[in-house]
Amino acid sequence: MEIVVYSTRPYDRRFLDAANEGRAHRLRYLDARLDATTALAAAGASAVCAFVNDRLDAEVLASLWAQGVRLVVLRCAGFNHVDLEAAARIGMAIGRVPEYSPHAVAEHTVALMLTLNRRIHRAHARVREGNFALDGLLGFDLYGKTVGIIGTGKIGACFARIMAGFGCRLLGSDPRENPDCIAVGMRYVPLDELLRDSDVLSLHCPLTPATRHVIGREALAIVKPGAMLLNTSRGAVIDTAAVISALKNGRLGSLGIDVYEEEADLFFRDLSDEVLHDDVFARLLTFPNVLVTGHQAFFTVEALAAIAETTIANVDAFAADGRPRHPVGIEKIAG
Ligand code: NAI
Repeated sequence: MEIVVYSTRPYDRRFLDAANEGRAHRLRYLDARLDATTALAAAGASAVCAFVNDRLDAEVLASLWAQGVRLVVLRCAGFNHVDLEAAARIGMAIGRVPEYSPHAVAEHTVALMLTLNRRIHRAHARVREGNFALDGLLGFDLYGKTVGIIGTGKIGACFARIMAGFGCRLLGSDPRENPDCIAVGMRYVPLDELLRDSDVLSLHCPLTPATRHVIGREALAIVKPGAMLLNTSRGAVIDTAAVISALKNGRLGSLGIDVYEEEADLFFRDLSDEVLHDDVFARLLTFPNVLVTGHQAFFTVEALAAIAETTIANVDAFAADGRPRHPVGIEKIAG
């Protein structure tokens, strides 16, 4: 099959080429993000491969379909950016990578947590300047603290296992209880209780209508004062404006994020020579107790290799019997 790969970076190319070795698929790499304009570049292809910030709304899907595209393979787990109803209506098949390395994301969450808690980012900058003062670097022991995990699927369970190793008390909120989490001591509680009792809150749920802004004004009004909030799931799970207010009034002690509501116009590109137009994001960067990474939690050798292999397996399955190996259907919308 001919596949147009959008939002390509050199590392995508390297891992996809390796996974495609020995197969007849032709991969056409584009740097551009997929949107209504760039969709036209898919002419002649029967599949497109898209990433987290590519646009897959009804207009783009219809345009791809009109050009002969019959399969969209997502090289990510989340599919909140796909209009699944529109895809089902026109018959476009959608495949995704349901699991690649939950360890990659869970471990990055731990990196954010430890860096924030022990102010490693600030300590590193100070030491390089010859400043060895400790004022402002005071952290807390994680041992014995309560960690609340919202979304206890593959990544949440992995994070829970690591935090159990730190000697933390684990609370979970998820409509489906995960026996792997219970096995490491997690107690499932209503969301309110989790928010009230947790010293560290970590989000590992998908973005759905039910989870959009789940951490908003109401939730932040009851979180434990000084709590640390971590989000490596999807940006819109937290209401950034509400979180900024909570950081300003001290309700939240710190924030570590790998995802941001409006990241599509920022992340995965070098904008260091440009003026930042997003004032909300710019405000976040002014806090000493906020740490932001640009959607890199998935970015390990193991994860990229697995993403590429599953993506090609989705294409192989579609070429063989008209269905990707890991299809995303309209029934998934409820999350
Ligand atoms: P998963 O499907 O294994 O687990 C998600 C869990 O969230 C499920 O147990 C589900 O029941 C739960 N959930 C659904 N609605 C909920 C709600 N309202 N409240 C609480 N829990 C709810 O997914 P996995 O692999 O653990 O990934 C989780 C999310 O992490 C993905 O949906 C994706 O958005 C994000 N992600 C971020 C990456 C990054 O690089 N920053 C990389 C990979 C995934």
